[in-house]
Amino acid sequence: MNEPRATILVTGGAGYIGSHTALALKERGYRPIVLDNLSRGHREIVEDKLAIPFIEGDTRDHALLDALFARERIAAVMHFAAFMEVGESVAHPLRFYDNNVYGTVTLLEAMAKAGVDKFVFSSTAATYGEPRTTPIPEDHPQAPINPYGRSKLMVEQLLADCDRAHGLRSVIFRYFNAAGAHPSVAIGEHHEPETHLLPLILHAALGLRPAIRVFGADYPTPDGTCIRDYIHVCDLADAHVLGLEYLLAGRESAAFNLGSGRGFSVKEVIEAARRVSGRDIPVETAPRRAGDPPVLVGSSDKARRVLGWKPRYEDLDTIVGHAWAWHAR
Ligand code: UFG
Repeated sequence: MNEPRATILVTGGAGYIGSHTALALKERGYRPIVLDNLSRGHREIVEDKLAIPFIEGDTRDHALLDALFARERIAAVMHFAAFMEVGESVAHPLRFYDNNVYGTVTLLEAMAKAGVDKFVFSSTAATYGEPRTTPIPEDHPQAPINPYGRSKLMVEQLLADCDRAHGLRSVIFRYFNAAGAHPSVAIGEHHEPETHLLPLILHAALGLRPAIRVFGADYPTPDGTCIRDYIHVCDLADAHVLGLEYLLAGRESAAFNLGSGRGFSVKEVIEAARRVSGRDIPVETAPRRAGDPPVLVGSSDKARRVLGWKPRYEDLDTIVGHAWAWHAR
């Protein structure tokens, strides 16, 4: 058997995007090790479904990290572990600064001590705040409007400082709306509580909730509902592997948007789910949700150009179809 390629520490690898990326690493011959405190993730995904080495632990645990870096020859870290619910961040900002910012500081300290200098970071389109142009390019001003976005921007800034101070090389990915599931239906999207549009639509299709509530039908968009850029989670995972390989090739730090460049309205996503599932999906119109910009669409030209990234599942019905296959399994 071939020797596995480099060992990659994947924090938050028991969560949605982290687990899909851990699987993509394994499929490409890397040796991922998942570190997750299970506050939001699911152990069985990593150990049973993916058969990937799993360590239960927290990125704020100095001793655990020091021991881990001493034991394993880690070539790079992919850091997904974070809270990500915007509403929760408004209600409990310190929770976010502790987990998302302090957790990253501890991790970077341990890496610096161990001489690990490559870092792939899970950031967000929420760092841009209210978009001034569409699609949003990477050099758009970053002015987040909630503590979640600010916690991610703070990490982006401290990564730049660590690059200047001690040569830490990072790839920052700013995601738009991750959606879909692995086509094998081994893993998919499962948050508790669930707040994301597509899983909630599919719960309504399965009769697990009475209806999908559309937050605002009076936005200045063609059908009055918010427009988002939905990107398949496996395409995000592929981009992470390319970002890792970019760093392993000795390239400089960089930030990339990851989106499809096209927007779909809430109503269009519901229509796609009706087509794909063949189910009736009851809809209720509800008031706008605080902090939702009408349109969020990103330009990912830079990732395509610099990393050679080519999304495989750009069609909305394919993204919704994979999510449906997983939810209905
Ligand atoms: N929506 C509904 N009903 C619901 C849930 C959502 O109408 O029950 C609408 C929202 O108002 C929004 C769209 O569906 O217009 C998408 O909402 P999501 O909650 O699925 O996703 P967001 O665009 O709010 O958030 C996502 C990520 C965040 C990230 C943000 C910006 O989940 O972590 O994109 O990048 F901060």
